[in-house]
Amino acid sequence: MGGALHFVLNGEPVEVAGVDPRTTLLHWLRARGLTGAKEACGEGECGACAVVSVVPGRDGGSRYVAQNACLLLLPEADGAEIWTVEGFGRAGALHPVQQAIVAAHGSQCGYCTPGFVAALFAHHYAAHRPAPEQALAGNLCRCTGYRALREVAAGLPAPAAGDPFAARLRAPAPAARALHYEAAGARFDRPGSLAGALELRARHPEAVLLAGGTDLVAELNQRGSAPRHLISLGAVAELRACAGRGGTVTIGAGATWREIEERFAGRVPLFAQLLPRFASPLVRERATLGGNLMTASPVGDGAVALLALDAEAELASPHGSRRVPLHEFFAGYRRTVVGPGEILAAVHVPAAPPSLARFHKVTKRELDDIACVSAAIALWLDGGTVTRARLAFGGVAPTPARALAAEQALVGRRLDAASLAACQAAVAAAFRPISDVRASAAYRSALLGSLLARTWAEASP
Ligand SMILES: Cc1cc2nc3c(=O)[nH]c(=O)nc-3n(C[C@H](O)[C@H](O)[C@H](O)COP(=O)(O)OP(=O)(O)OC[C@H]3O[C@@H](n4cnc5c(N)ncnc54)[C@H](O)[C@@H]3O)c2cc1C
Ligand code: FES
Ligand code: FES
Repeated sequence: MGGALHFVLNGEPVEVAGVDPRTTLLHWLRARGLTGAKEACGEGECGACAVVSVVPGRDGGSRYVAQNACLLLLPEADGAEIWTVEGFGRAGALHPVQQAIVAAHGSQCGYCTPGFVAALFAHHYAAHRPAPEQALAGNLCRCTGYRALREVAAGLPAPAAGDPFAARLRAPAPAARALHYEAAGARFDRPGSLAGALELRARHPEAVLLAGGTDLVAELNQRGSAPRHLISLGAVAELRACAGRGGTVTIGAGATWREIEERFAGRVPLFAQLLPRFASPLVRERATLGGNLMTASPVGDGAVALLALDAEAELASPHGSRRVPLHEFFAGYRRTVVGPGEILAAVHVPAAPPSLARFHKVTKRELDDIACVSAAIALWLDGGTVTRARLAFGGVAPTPARALAAEQALVGRRLDAASLAACQAAVAAAFRPISDVRASAAYRSALLGSLLARTWAEASP
């Protein structure tokens, strides 16, 4: 049974059958003649491929989000409502966003412009518009059109009365539904429950789990090959469940960074500092907490922050669930302790906010970049004396890791020059960074010391 995919594209229903499920939405759109969205990086970094989806908003309504079509596999569109730049307006009747770009001379080439239009379209209809820099952080222009585009983002008027795109937002968004689809010898399953996902995982150990796809599909695009069987977690509501009880916060592994930003930026220490620096708004719309931890990247931002907060991972299996402290979760470079039949279900962040919490991320550019070194520092103080310390670092070891000896050495001390020097020495002894394309070993080592010095300086200005 192959099955078919059904979705709404630029306001028209579409049925697709017989297309390899590993095809990206971008490639499918372009093969269909919708060539507005472009392929440039194929890794979610430039926004040339941006399209717009309708997703649930607050109060039962919907909102528009710009997404990287190069990171979406075609079956993920099943049940969705998607708009491409071709659907916003037409020659002689441009959409207000397109008109504003033309009026500001904001477009120099046809390569990046459709992606900027998609991002600005979502920005135009957003209930709470972010700063222009954030709205456009996922879109690259190689020939300096930014000033005009930023001005467009800053100056867009509210949607006009009777705007049909604005009216659409008052109705609910389509919900992801269970799906089984096969074509070209490959298979895509999207179970509708955690039990269904665990059962599929047990029956098909060779299948690969897919959450937001911002790591996995980017990697598949680079490699040019993909597994024959993918199990999407996109319709498993249990994995998106979040709660805050008695101060302890539980975040479902399937929660996106956008959802986390909306619900927990002010409640989980460090997150308000981390989130604006995490990828771009386009990536945050798809990328999940679970995917971030499961890739076990040495510079995973979520892992570094959650290590400093003593978080625990909850792993689900057909036989029940178990909890693993995050500092025992990473087993080696890009490896975790999660077993073949298990799924990361949630992360629990204990109550006990630190007196001082700092997240530092050193990158080559301010926004939408991966860290070369990151640090999450959480200190509990009593009358200026450290009672508990958590020092977690990324980019200096094969996995994100805590500096346990340095944490111990800080207890009972005040944040003065002597404790800083002792802490710097203990942290330096804990890690042997390596050189790679992002930074040299010497630079990384130097950063460890300077990020600690910065924290001490910020603690006693
Ligand atoms: C342009 C760009 C910028 C980025 N910037 C950052 C950044 O600033 N900071 C940062 O930390 N990361 C960054 N990333 C990496 C990525 O976005 C994050 O790691 C993201 O959180 C991954 O989540 P995902 O849902 O997309 O995972 P996916 O790609 O869907 O999955 C990643 C891996 O996890 C597995 N997996 C996913 N969910 C589960 C689960 N519940 N149980 C078991 N296994 C699971 C998958 O099988 C896969 O192996 C960036 C990526 C891109 C493309
Ligand atoms: S092609 Fe660059 S983000 Fe998709
Ligand atoms: S105008 Fe397209 S890359 Fe700059």
